[in-house]
Amino acid sequence: MRIKLLVLISFFFTEVQAQSKTEYLKQFTGFPLGASVDGEVLLKNKVYRDLVAKEFNSLTTENHLKMYRVHPGQNRYDFAMGDSIVTFALRNKMRIHGHTLVWFDGMADWAKNFQGTKQDWESLIKNHIQTVVGHYKGKITSWDVVNEYLTQNDDSVRKFIVQEKLGDDYMAKCFRWAHEADPNALLIYNEYGMEWSESKLQGVIRIANDFKKRGIPLDGLGVQFHLKIFNSNERIAHVLKELSKTGLKIHISELDMMVNTTNSATLVYTDSLKKVQQEKYLFVFDAYRKYVPDNQKYGITFWNVGDKDTWLRPTYKIMEYPLLFDEDYNRKPVYNAILQSLK
Ligand code: XIL
Repeated sequence: MRIKLLVLISFFFTEVQAQSKTEYLKQFTGFPLGASVDGEVLLKNKVYRDLVAKEFNSLTTENHLKMYRVHPGQNRYDFAMGDSIVTFALRNKMRIHGHTLVWFDGMADWAKNFQGTKQDWESLIKNHIQTVVGHYKGKITSWDVVNEYLTQNDDSVRKFIVQEKLGDDYMAKCFRWAHEADPNALLIYNEYGMEWSESKLQGVIRIANDFKKRGIPLDGLGVQFHLKIFNSNERIAHVLKELSKTGLKIHISELDMMVNTTNSATLVYTDSLKKVQQEKYLFVFDAYRKYVPDNQKYGITFWNVGDKDTWLRPTYKIMEYPLLFDEDYNRKPVYNAILQSLK
């Protein structure tokens, strides 16, 4: 009996020791490490939930706070899933980043079909922003106020219903409205494609400087970085250096790394693809550490957690392995490579 007890006790201590020895990437980054999450998976899948709680200290709401989800009818808001992510994050002492208040591709159908004057349109967008930001006041630390303001490849304003009704300067108004609703929230302009286009990068910088001059409450720039293994290191470094010159916080906000260069639906994730992907990931982390001043590092956020959660598979109908955790939520070798490089 006594021996059994001793075995049990020593087993218990070895377990505790082994657990306390596990090292996490977030302990070595020196800046917040985040992931976007799906509220339904978070509720249903304990493995996902536990992993998220252990590995990340910042969470982004991937889809639940987009207008079509959170504001599905003109007089109807649905905060259930957003609330559930927020509760989970706060319980685990994580930072929460809200994505996104105004996005051409996240508009609710009722809003796309809304008929009204310029004034009515302003009220619609203002109410939307202020209701959502107000609901999470003091809980959500930062917001992607406007997402993808510019067109795909250059410095021209994307045309869509809000831009048509409110004019090109709609973004400045959105920032002011969000700031009124929660003066303590950090407000971010999130954009993609700067790794491909110099004109677009310069557009973002032009807007940031213009907003600063005009006193628009802009705190940070989000650079999505949905990267491909053949994106050039030079451009990645250049984007981070140039954006940092604005003095604003820089958030790598939607990081993933596509290895599928032929859009194949049955791609094999070969050792050589894994190696190139790893090199590129190491470069991104290294460049972020080197080129973004410490006080401007808002963090690096991955676009979801395990390879099976990636948006790239359903969206582009291709096979992809873009994240740091595999199908079963085990750490991939790339995770450990980044960890070693940070130590
Ligand atoms: C994507 C989500 O990941 C998908 O689940 C959804 O079907 C479409 O939107 N840039 C953005 C994100 O800013 O909001 C997008 O998220 C991915 C591209």
